[in-house]
Amino acid sequence: MPKKNDTLTAAKDKKSDEFYTQYEDIQREINAYLEYNPDTFRDKTVLLPCDDPEWSNFTRFFAQNFDMLGLKKLISTSYATESKIAHECVQLSIFDFLTEFETGSPQYDETISPKRGKIFTLTRRNKKIDINDLRWQYLEGDGDFRSEEVSHLRDEADIIVTNPPFSLFREFVSWIMAANKQCLIIGNINCITYKDFFPLIQQNKIWTGCRFNKRINGRNMMFSVPDSYPSSGTEIISDESGKRYISVAGTGWFTNIEHGRRHQPLPLMTMADNLRYSKHKEILERGYPRYVNYNAIEVSYSDAIPSDYDGLMGVPISFLNMYCPEQFEIIGISLELADDMGKYAEKGEYMAGGKRFYLAEQNGKYKYRRMYDRLIIRRKQ
Ligand SMILES: C[S@@+](CC[C@H](N)C(=O)[O-])C[C@H]1O[C@@H](n2cnc3c(N)ncnc32)[C@H](O)[C@@H]1O
Repeated sequence: MPKKNDTLTAAKDKKSDEFYTQYEDIQREINAYLEYNPDTFRDKTVLLPCDDPEWSNFTRFFAQNFDMLGLKKLISTSYATESKIAHECVQLSIFDFLTEFETGSPQYDETISPKRGKIFTLTRRNKKIDINDLRWQYLEGDGDFRSEEVSHLRDEADIIVTNPPFSLFREFVSWIMAANKQCLIIGNINCITYKDFFPLIQQNKIWTGCRFNKRINGRNMMFSVPDSYPSSGTEIISDESGKRYISVAGTGWFTNIEHGRRHQPLPLMTMADNLRYSKHKEILERGYPRYVNYNAIEVSYSDAIPSDYDGLMGVPISFLNMYCPEQFEIIGISLELADDMGKYAEKGEYMAGGKRFYLAEQNGKYKYRRMYDRLIIRRKQ
């Protein structure tokens, strides 16, 4: 067994991907799919890559609810401690990860433990299944989801569920899509602006889950973190037992599994009614101004989208949470569509940098206001 002072540390400037999803968040999300279709997971093989029962509530949830969900098989893989430390984390020690669950098992091997990932499996049998039936062994490699070994498990699976390492989000999504699998994964609203992710959203190949960018009981989604999690730039909240959490705004689930919420059209007023009765002062005062560098109107609030407007509309990215594909189509994103503001430079002041839509301020008197990223949508006939 390694000695305490063998602590392995990683470069300080690396971002930590070690934050863990809470059981209730997983339960709440899965329940929403079951309400829509109780057989969502029936006879399916579910793969939880990037997971570990000692650390992950995903494995715990799916193992405890194996029978209720009607699963055929559950596979969960974890990433080797040395690889975690080397590639992901700040100042973590192998002792942050080594548990009695592992050291107390007959197959524990202190020489290979830091280098190898682990695999946990549960298969349907003629008896009630629970978490104590989980069996584990070391993988051949370090459990990197991109490895041939874990990719084979992906190919065997029907549904992939996890909170993937945020720093590898794009690669993770491509890895799922390459195998054409169903998925339920956690990500951040900023991912929508990624060039390779946005087309999946636009083409309805992936959508937001039931909880996305939503506060519950006044709180963003919270994730538990190890004691060594870097506190700079992140608010750390401790509970009575000293367990530490981070609160991450703009976070939620992405999926390509059906759920009822996304087919519920957003209740909207006509443009005339919005201009008269909107609860937003800006809409009452300014209406729906047209962008200077793209032919669409600005709709600063998703609940102020005019129900009777047939042209192109720019809406905040948070609209995705309310997006119903039967009601609207997504045409594109400002990052791709915005015309170069350089063309308008001679006409007035604008803030340079990034492709954004601009509005003319002060009735177009040579000053332009840069907007946040916008989605361009159009009403479906
Ligand atoms: C955001 S954490 C989430 C952990 C767990 N899924 C949960 O939600 O509780 C992401 C996990 O992925 C692991 N990880 C990082 N890079 C990985 C890779 N290339 N392959 C597999 N797992 C990786 C990290 O060590 C970390 O434990």
